[in-house]
Amino acid sequence: MPETEPTTFWEVLAATPVAAFVRENAWAYPLLETLHMLGLALLVGGIVLFDLRLLGRSSEIPVRRLACHILPWVWIGFAINLATGALLFSSDAAEFAANASFRVKIVLIALAGINAAVFQRFAFRDVESWDRGVAAPPRARVLAMVSLVLWIGVVTAGRMMAYLK
Ligand code: HEM
Repeated sequence: MPETEPTTFWEVLAATPVAAFVRENAWAYPLLETLHMLGLALLVGGIVLFDLRLLGRSSEIPVRRLACHILPWVWIGFAINLATGALLFSSDAAEFAANASFRVKIVLIALAGINAAVFQRFAFRDVESWDRGVAAPPRARVLAMVSLVLWIGVVTAGRMMAYLK
């Protein structure tokens, strides 16, 4: 039975040599999944620790010092998950694109990105006034709470991809 010509964008993506390699090589997919989990650990682990500080945990630790220590690793984790996620996705693009949990995950990642940009723009700019020993202003704490809820949602939706399609 001859292979049918890929027609949709997702079929064309899944037909690329890279996608075929990820699909057919015995080690590519499990290694990418492992990296995807390591990226998650850096990204979500770092964000949770930073948000807990904003919510008042360990208020003796200066927020700016903590940001300098944690946020570069958060960005590295994000980059790892974008790259490994795109490769995992390409291997069965049409199937994943139709996966309800995957769609929820991508929407939550976008919302978490917007939330982080709002934090940077409207809360972090006057951090000197609440850097250490005092509670963060209500807007920073609300954005930290929203961030925690969104990233816990991303991880849950990611895990549910195998169950809620
Ligand atoms: C940036 C933050 C991201 C986080 C925190 C995240 C988190 C997760 C989690 C928790 C899983 C389930 C892993 C498992 O249970 O084995 C998962 C799987 C997956 N993710 Fe992501 N993900 C992210 C980004 C992406 C992106 C941008 C894409 C695609 C463009 C993507 C594609 C996938 C795919 C295809 C799987 C299924 C892998 C499998 O077969 O188990 N992810 N992700």
